[in-house]
Amino acid sequence: MKNNVIILGNLKECKRARAKIDMDLINSLTFVTTKNDINDKWFKDKNRFIIHKIKELEYDLIFIASETISEFKEFHRQLIKQGVENKKIWYNFNIDTFNLMLKDFTKYNSGTLKYKTDFFMEEKPTDFELKKLDFQSMNRLEKYFYRNNGKIIHKFLHYFEIYDRHFSRFFGKDVTVLEIGVSKGGSLELWRDYFGSKCKIYGIDIDPKCKNLESEQIEIFIGDAEDRNFLRTVKEKVPEIDILIDDGGHYMNQQIVAFEELYPIISPDGVYLCEDLMTSYMDEYEGGYRRKNTFIEYSKDLIDYLNAWYFEEKKSWFSKKKLSVNKITLSTHSMHYYNNVLVIEKRKMDPPFAAIMGNK
Ligand SMILES: C[S@@+](CC[C@H](N)C(=O)[O-])C[C@H]1O[C@@H](n2cnc3c(N)ncnc32)[C@H](O)[C@@H]1O
Repeated sequence: MKNNVIILGNLKECKRARAKIDMDLINSLTFVTTKNDINDKWFKDKNRFIIHKIKELEYDLIFIASETISEFKEFHRQLIKQGVENKKIWYNFNIDTFNLMLKDFTKYNSGTLKYKTDFFMEEKPTDFELKKLDFQSMNRLEKYFYRNNGKIIHKFLHYFEIYDRHFSRFFGKDVTVLEIGVSKGGSLELWRDYFGSKCKIYGIDIDPKCKNLESEQIEIFIGDAEDRNFLRTVKEKVPEIDILIDDGGHYMNQQIVAFEELYPIISPDGVYLCEDLMTSYMDEYEGGYRRKNTFIEYSKDLIDYLNAWYFEEKKSWFSKKKLSVNKITLSTHSMHYYNNVLVIEKRKMDPPFAAIMGNK
């Protein structure tokens, strides 16, 4: 089935999108643009409208062609104001992937939240969308999340599978969890529900209002997660942490400082999870592709330490850099990179041995 597509954006972004879209994949293309750009001669021979006319148009999906997240959010806000359904709005950082997504449109448009691409939506799903969800196929975290009528939780939907994969072995145990980034407090309550009555949950947030979100099994420290002195005072007050989730400010230095200060107090078989790695690619968070000192680049060095056992100094004629077994090597079992998330699992590590077995 071919679709009627609207591109929403300013002149520059509409031009870019038009140049890239594979016209064979669509039925019709309409441009919706800003008041400033509508009269530009490029639009003259094209089907074009300004945004408040969108109600009068027929379409299957709207692609927001915006350069920045803030521009996307503004366009998105305007669309919602005009009564456009969320699920018809598509966004991706990169128009290059749009054709790929178009090919898979039936899947992406299946109406289930799982396939929604609108990952910057900060809205609750509608009752209609919730009814379509298949609760039977969900893990306990997802069930809690979608049924939550309490304090707000703000998570990418695909994180729940990752959490469950690495956290489920702690169910019902005497587990200690620390989450950086409390916000409305909903996620701390989610962890309490998930791990059960024996767990202890700690939160860290820079916003003093978060202190009021403390409750049974939940304790919150107020301070800046980028401030080593603050983190050191927290370390004096908490026991070893079994699970740490970094969902704080997501700036590069915050993620690095938090890791350097808190990884050492993760229990020997604990888990360190840093989420929203996307900021490592975003200018506004001091990120950038292959930019020095992003958390992603920093974490790549950890991969070397994980494998430092195998470094042979004598043969390293092509590199002046040395690699030695260090605390990371000795205490880290594995690193798991997911879409937007890094999970590091601790374990006491011995030097690796290989053996030969078999008789033939
Ligand atoms: C994405 S929200 C956390 C969402 C929450 N974990 C959830 O799942 O619902 C980020 C939080 O980090 C806090 N934050 C931002 N910068 C921080 C910093 N430097 N130190 C500590 N907390 C910070 C913000 O106040 C905000 O509450």
